[in-house]
Amino acid sequence: MTKKKSASQSQVVMTEMVLPNDTNTLHNLMGGKLMHWMDIVAAIAAQKHSNRIVVTAAADSISFKHPIALGNVVTLQAQVTRAFNSSMEVFIEVWAEDIPANKKIQTHRAFFTFVAVDQNGRPIEVPEVVPNTPEEVELFEGALRRRQLRLVLAKRMDPKDAVELKSIFNLDEKPEKKK
Ligand SMILES: CC(C)(COP(=O)(O)OP(=O)(O)OC[C@H]1O[C@@H](n2cnc3c(N)ncnc32)[C@H](O)[C@@H]1OP(=O)(O)O)[C@@H](O)C(=O)NCCC(=O)NCCS
Repeated sequence: MTKKKSASQSQVVMTEMVLPNDTNTLHNLMGGKLMHWMDIVAAIAAQKHSNRIVVTAAADSISFKHPIALGNVVTLQAQVTRAFNSSMEVFIEVWAEDIPANKKIQTHRAFFTFVAVDQNGRPIEVPEVVPNTPEEVELFEGALRRRQLRLVLAKRMDPKDAVELKSIFNLDEKPEKKK
């Protein structure tokens, strides 16, 4: 197995158009449809990195700030930020474009986690990620903190072992006494 791969080798760009069947009663893209597209683009990125079958293990909180209108073109870009043992964090960015109006805005950013599995569905080791650009390095470094946070929230890690989170939540400091 290749032990290391550049982050950019996993990059995937997917383009979709919002059609009537994808929309809610306000003629905007359904949240579930967007999450479906995000899951697909991110799974392809994780497959490209690992050359394995992958399953979605987690999707971090996704907020819907900007509605995406019927007829907009949606571009989704995904790239693996960091790999651990069998799991990979994938960063997804989404843009909505109104081509006749010449307007394009970024609407979403999210992190999904995928696990590479063998034919029996058992987790299997994946190559390390090598970040090259400053943005890739930033995403790589933050991935450990995000991993610990999601594993603590999923009750898969004892908060005491989440060393990366200690500085954020001051876990080493004694709580202030109430007056
Ligand atoms: C994801 C899955 C393979 C993990 O299997 P498991 O037996 O719990 O395996 P492990 O405990 O050894 O964990 C394997 C990896 O998954 C990661 N993982 C498991 N649950 C996770 C979660 N909620 N969030 C982030 N990572 C998670 C672990 O951290 C571990 O990563 P590492 O190998 O890089 O250290 C298993 O839970 C599964 O098959 N889930 C269903 C996946 C699926 O069907 N997805 C579609 C959604 S409908």
